[in-house]
Amino acid sequence: MKQKRITVAIDGHSSCGKSTMAKALAKRVGYAYIDTGAMYRAVTLYCLEHDMIKGEEVNKPRLRRHIPKIEITFQVNEEGKSDTYLNGKNVEKEIRGMEVSNKVSLVSAIGFVRRAMVAQQQAMDKNKGIVMDGRDIGTVVFPDAELKVFITASAQVRAERRFKELQSKGDTTTTFEEVLANVQERDLLDSTRKESPLRQADDALLLDNSNLTLEEQDEWLYQRFVEAATR
Ligand code: DC
Repeated sequence: MKQKRITVAIDGHSSCGKSTMAKALAKRVGYAYIDTGAMYRAVTLYCLEHDMIKGEEVNKPRLRRHIPKIEITFQVNEEGKSDTYLNGKNVEKEIRGMEVSNKVSLVSAIGFVRRAMVAQQQAMDKNKGIVMDGRDIGTVVFPDAELKVFITASAQVRAERRFKELQSKGDTTTTFEEVLANVQERDLLDSTRKESPLRQADDALLLDNSNLTLEEQDEWLYQRFVEAATR
């Protein structure tokens, strides 16, 4: 059956493997993959570089003046992975560091930042054929997406996965209890913030991947994609 080009919106809790799944689908079906968390991380890096964050306070009037000058793009590197560019500079490594991770929820909660990012995200979908992941893709960015998925897993399982990942990277100081507390705190912040809180769109398909292998979840998503693209 003939497949049409569609928009795929993937939302869900932090550390539940959203981006791994979204990337795998994009690669398999030849679509572009957009990591919207990377965009909020890049704005946060911009704020840090321009000294706009003091403690838990963002200098909003200054950021508001700068926001039209912040452009975020993605480029595929030699390994076939997508790198994030902030005003033309590759910032993929910096945006994954602890300094940015610790401040990104402050910046992503600001209404005018979200409106600017949403406008850039919507402009990326001109030709369809896109897989985008985040927190508000099915609810705010692409409410008409042909396929919407909301992914979750228990906090315990997500913390175990992150704990293992930290250990494999040589982190021997962070305890499991700290990781679990961080996962629970981010869930609370993401789902209770005033601007675009994390919530499942009414027409999104729910996937709890607590007990699924990577292969099983990739296959589940691919089957839902085929159904939506041939509908
Ligand atoms: O997915 P991530 O951990 O890289 O996201 C970084 C932060 O950005 C996280 O605090 C949630 C926020 N975010 C958001 O508010 N809206 C999105 N569409 C994507 C991420």
